[in-house]
Amino acid sequence: MGGRAGRELATLTSEFAEHTPAQADDFLPGPVLLLGAPGVGKGTQAQRLMADYGIPQISTGDILRDNIARGTELGKAAKGLMDKGQLVPDEMVNDMVGARLAQPDVARGYILDGYPRTLGQAEWLDAHLATAAKSGTPLVAINIRVDEQELLRRITGRRICSACKHIYNIYSKPPKHPGVCDIDGSPLQHRSDDTEAAFTERMKAYNSLTAPVIEHYCRQGRFREVNGDQQVEQVTTAIESALKALREAGK
Ligand code: AP5
Repeated sequence: MGGRAGRELATLTSEFAEHTPAQADDFLPGPVLLLGAPGVGKGTQAQRLMADYGIPQISTGDILRDNIARGTELGKAAKGLMDKGQLVPDEMVNDMVGARLAQPDVARGYILDGYPRTLGQAEWLDAHLATAAKSGTPLVAINIRVDEQELLRRITGRRICSACKHIYNIYSKPPKHPGVCDIDGSPLQHRSDDTEAAFTERMKAYNSLTAPVIEHYCRQGRFREVNGDQQVEQVTTAIESALKALREAGK
């Protein structure tokens, strides 16, 4: 969801009320990579940036979960790995992202959430975007940092709307009525990989396979880190300031 629908969601959600959104018309950041460990707030921030800038969120986790819900071959292959907290093979994810980036709604920019998360995926993406037809504003990468002990609480407390996918947390951002989405009244769901055991495996995969991706983008220079251990809207402000600084630096 993006553009007007995203803005309507924003106006319906009180957490958005105090944040002064970036102006999409005078500041288009180009493709944005949101990096960080499980539970740092990539999805939460991607939904807010999507509303502020009117560009789509591309979450590989969401696309995989949609495939699982629809019973596709990709979903069947991915489910066991995801429930155990392991990564889905690069080739499957790269093909999925390649197909998504071929859609016309990415022309003004997009937010990649949860991709790339191996060096192989990062190299594939760099090569994919380097081809003449796809070159445009270069990628910028934002790494969100949160202490590991806070992440488990975030993960086990997370609840997601089964319809609009808005993200809640029973500890830090509970819905007005338990188990029900404030926005559309649909039931909230608990992800099957949001268990302590799966979280431990996800952190192992993150530390061994995804941490080098952060180094990869840091070396390219168009990279900033933000503190994710503050109020949701303060994190958004920090990300938007970082995007603006990167934009200025690239002029
Ligand atoms: P994916 O869905 O990408 O999960 P993840 O990276 O583990 O990240 P999460 O979605 O758990 O967390 P988040 O950072 O988005 O946090 P959120 O905003 O929800 O991937 C799932 C699985 O799919 C992987 O394990 C793998 O198997 C597979 N997969 C996906 N992409 C892949 C790829 N590229 N390659 C291979 N396999 C892939 O926030 C978490 C909670 O914290 C929420 O409840 C929220 O309300 C709360 N919260 C957020 N911000 C704050 C804040 N500032 N203060 C307090 N609470 C907050």
